Amino acid sequence: MNFHVLTLFPEMIIQGLAASIIGRAMEKEIISLEAVNIRDYTINKHKKVDDYTYGGGAGMLMQAQPVYDAWKAVAGKIDEKGGKGRETKVIYVTPQGRTFHQAMAKELAGEEDLIFLCGHYEGVDERVLEEIVTDFVSIGDYVLTGGELPAMVMIDAIARMVPGVLGNRESGETESFSNYLLEYPQYSRPENWMGKKVPEVLLSGDHQKVEEWRLEQSLKKTKELRPELYERWAQENQEYFIRKA
Ligand code: ADE
Repeated sequence: MNFHVLTLFPEMIIQGLAASIIGRAMEKEIISLEAVNIRDYTINKHKKVDDYTYGGGAGMLMQAQPVYDAWKAVAGKIDEKGGKGRETKVIYVTPQGRTFHQAMAKELAGEEDLIFLCGHYEGVDERVLEEIVTDFVSIGDYVLTGGELPAMVMIDAIARMVPGVLGNRESGETESFSNYLLEYPQYSRPENWMGKKVPEVLLSGDHQKVEEWRLEQSLKKTKELRPELYERWAQENQEYFIRKA
């Protein structure tokens, strides 16, 4: 899978994602990451990419031309590789978008290419958004100084759902949110640490008992910390409660 990021701070994207598991996936060529500097595409002789807003108001706006030309260059390169550049999803990261969540990450991991547009200043000229953006996505109800961190958050979450990025032992399937439940508590050696003992059932070797205990712990934790997720799970798994009764 290939990630393309249109940004004014390409080094932030590359440095932020080159380490750890995502870096390893890039080395293995399971994913690729390209950060394109929007400033390289401006036709302004002073390399400016922003200007005042019509109608007045504080702050500067990113202009349509450099953003559009940066997108066209990326779409063209995707076409050259035999992909579908103009049909590739373009995600504008903005606090005004739909809130990102795990199911969205999983779905987007099925795309061959994805383009992210990172805004700065007070935003981006509406006309270029209308022209190129397919999805408006936020990472939560707070405002950051730019779209780079949100783009990195989304790329990390999407990339780890791409087959082969996580090793077999760290599968993305059994973890929190895959079925709405938070993860059960886990323990490693020693059996007794500062007087705190590992729950007996985990030492029993009874696989079925262990699984039952883990599910109960997940349910308890989810009910307490994320009641709305618990309700959703309970709705979809009514047979579990019938069986238990
Ligand atoms: N840009 C600034 N804040 C943001 C947020 N919360 N989500 C996505 N993009 C943003």
